[in-house]
Amino acid sequence: MIAFLFPSVVLCIYCRFRAGVILCNIGLPTSRKCLWLSLEYASHNLISQDDSNLTPVLVLTHALALYDKPALRILFWSPTVEMISYVVTGANRGIGFGFIQTLSADPNNVVFALTRNKATSVNLLNLESKQKNVHVLQADITNVPALRAVAKAVENVTGGTLNVLINNGAYLETTRAEYTLEMYDGKEDILDEDFNNFFKVNTLGVIKTINIFLPLLRKASHTALAKVITISSAAGDMEFNKKANIDFFVPYAVSKAAVNMAMAKYATRFKDENLLFLSLSPGFVNTMTDQPQEVQDELYGNYAKLFAEAYPEWSGTPLTPEQSVAAVLDTVSKLTVKDSGKFMSHNGDNETWI
Ligand SMILES: NC(=O)c1ccc[n+]([C@@H]2O[C@H](COP(=O)([O-])OP(=O)(O)OC[C@H]3O[C@@H](n4cnc5c(N)ncnc54)[C@H](OP(=O)(O)O)[C@@H]3O)[C@@H](O)[C@H]2O)c1
Repeated sequence: MIAFLFPSVVLCIYCRFRAGVILCNIGLPTSRKCLWLSLEYASHNLISQDDSNLTPVLVLTHALALYDKPALRILFWSPTVEMISYVVTGANRGIGFGFIQTLSADPNNVVFALTRNKATSVNLLNLESKQKNVHVLQADITNVPALRAVAKAVENVTGGTLNVLINNGAYLETTRAEYTLEMYDGKEDILDEDFNNFFKVNTLGVIKTINIFLPLLRKASHTALAKVITISSAAGDMEFNKKANIDFFVPYAVSKAAVNMAMAKYATRFKDENLLFLSLSPGFVNTMTDQPQEVQDELYGNYAKLFAEAYPEWSGTPLTPEQSVAAVLDTVSKLTVKDSGKFMSHNGDNETWI
């Protein structure tokens, strides 16, 4: 009894979404139980590689199992639904909240929304109360113990795996955004402070987050391509800065260029694994539509003028978070391991940044 129960339990954990199939085997003689469990596990792993040619393997396994135990037909034929797990940082508002709304609308996703302050994340908590597949967790991405606790919570829900990590949270303080580099001359303390603040969150915070979630991503990568998507910015692209004539908001741009390089380093390090690391710009997105027009003009007006000059074909209207998220997720869905280490726009190229 113990001899077959133990492997059954282990396999149940591996194939938790198909536990019904495994439990159905319990009524069979031990030798056949073991055979079906092994076949089930093997086919589960093969199919998860996204190779539809392997579907007949699964069908055959089930057909043979049916031959053994016809009464359980219905359970054996129930379709396999593989939950895809997502962690999104900075999910409280803006593009991050857009990711949570869109991703959680698909019941096959399980979505972990990371916020700096759970108690005040009203929109996220509302969504969590309505949708079973949303989990709101608290972590500042500069806080390693908090990130570790969150990773543990994710592990408890997914059984130790994570399919997609979206590093979206960022430090976007606009005090001195108008400063060009030489304006820091004689204000070296402020130069250090500004660069450290942006670097701490946008570069180091992302690296710390990736390192902590890496074991879960690597485990998920055994069955399907695991993805780390870092929401960067065209501000981190050298050509874009020159073309759009953006000589200000320097510490932000440098922190994003640095995180792009960090992603390329991860891609290089893990090139032989089923892991993808990508920097992706979300486009020019108005996340302040609930604010008075003057506030929106102040935040987006200058950029819009520069972009219109550099890109005369541009519509002149920033994207909504929904439009940006739809484009980003469409691009992400088409990625292959060959894209690892790239820096792309929301449209999947390195040209149409806005
Ligand atoms: N909007 C654009 O046009 C645009 C363009 C290019 C790139 N991006 C990038 O897109 C991403 C989202 O931007 P957004 O426009 O949606 O910005 P946003 O509305 O200002 O949201 C930023 C989010 O990051 C969170 N955050 C800030 N510091 C954090 C930290 N230390 N730890 C964890 N979370 C932190 C914020 O948390 P709180 O809610 O607690 O403050 C907030 O939820 C950013 O990476 C940004 O650089 C945006």
